[in-house]
Amino acid sequence: MQKNILKSGIEISDVGLGCMSLGTEYDKAETIIESAIDQGITYFDTADVYDKGINEEIVGKALKKYQNRDDIVIGTKVGNHLKDDGSTFWDPSKKYIKSAVKDSLKNLGLDELDLYQLHGGTIDDPLDETISAFDELKQEGIVRAYGISSIRPNVIRYYLEHSQIETLMSQFNLIDNRPEDIVDEVNAHNVKMLARGPVFKGLLTANSSKALDNKFSEGIFDYTYQELGETIASIKEVENNLTALTFKYLKSQEALGSIIVGASSPAQLEENIKNYEAAQNISNEQLKAARERVKNLQYTQHVK
Ligand SMILES: NC(=O)c1ccc[n+]([C@@H]2O[C@H](COP(=O)([O-])OP(=O)(O)OC[C@H]3O[C@@H](n4cnc5c(N)ncnc54)[C@H](OP(=O)(O)O)[C@@H]3O)[C@@H](O)[C@H]2O)c1
Repeated sequence: MQKNILKSGIEISDVGLGCMSLGTEYDKAETIIESAIDQGITYFDTADVYDKGINEEIVGKALKKYQNRDDIVIGTKVGNHLKDDGSTFWDPSKKYIKSAVKDSLKNLGLDELDLYQLHGGTIDDPLDETISAFDELKQEGIVRAYGISSIRPNVIRYYLEHSQIETLMSQFNLIDNRPEDIVDEVNAHNVKMLARGPVFKGLLTANSSKALDNKFSEGIFDYTYQELGETIASIKEVENNLTALTFKYLKSQEALGSIIVGASSPAQLEENIKNYEAAQNISNEQLKAARERVKNLQYTQHVK
C-alpha cells in the first residue's frame, strides 16, 4: 500500500485503521487489527477517550508483537479530561497535556508516541500555551510529531500559521466535502489530511440504504433524508461502487495523508480495502460527474 510522508519523515499508510469502533472485547478487536496488518495498513488511529483508555490498551497490546517493525505508526489524541465519575471536560492546558501523555504511553505500552493530536478545541482556548505543550513534548523526545483533529476553520488556520502541526484530522468524504474550504491552505503548509468518516458510517458502502435509514433518518447538513437518498441514487448512476468513488475523491486531494476508515468486523475492513484498490479503476471523468451531483457543503460555524 502507498505510504505518505509527514514533515518529520514519519510514513503513514494511505489507508489507516480508525480504531474507535473496535469495541472492548479484546479478541474481536485483535482480529480486525490483524486483518488491517495483513492488508498493508500500518497507521492506527486511537484516542485516550475512546472507551476511557481501553481502546489505547487494546491497540497497544495487539500491536505489541510488531514492535520490532519500524513501519507501524500509532496516533492518539488528548484534550478530553476524564473525571473520576467518568464524565469529561475540555482541557487544553499545558499541565494536563503533559500529564495525559504519560497515561497514553502507559496504555499503549510505549516509551515514545509517533503522533499526538489535539482532540478538538476552540478559538477561545489558550492556543499558544497548548502549542507550546506539544512543542515541548517534541523537544523532550516524548512525541515524534503532533497534529490536530478539528472541523473549525478558525482553529485550523491558527494552528497552520502558529504551530508545527503535521496532520489535520477532519471528517472528509464525497458527501461531507466541507474540508474543500481549507484543503489548499493545509497543503500549502505541507500538512497532511487524515480523512475520517470516509465511508460516512456505511452510507458510502454497498450497505448504503440500511445506513441511510438507520443513521441518517433526520438528514444531515444541507440534506434532508429524502435529498440524501436521491443524491446517493444519482451518484450510483455514475458509479455503483460508492466506497471506491469516495476513496477516489479523497485520493484526488493533494494534501491526503491517510484515509482513516472504521470497521466493526474484519469482513467490512476487507471490503473497504478491496474497494480502495478498485478506486484505481474509476476515471477522473466519473469522479467529476459524481462530484457535480453532490452539494458543495461549506463550514458555516467557527469560520471567523
Ligand atoms: N474527532 C475525532 O478525532 C474523531 C471523530 C470520529 C472518528 N474519529 C476516528 O476516525 C475513525 C473513522 O471514523 P468513523 O468510524 O466515523 O468512520 P467511517 O469509517 O466512515 O465509519 C465506520 C463505520 O461505518 C460502517 N462501515 C464501515 N465499513 C463498512 C462496510 N464495508 N459496509 C458497511 N458498513 C461499513 C461501520 O458501521 P457499523 O459499526 O454500524 O457496522 C463502521 O463502524 C474512527 O474509528 C476514529 O479512529 C476521530
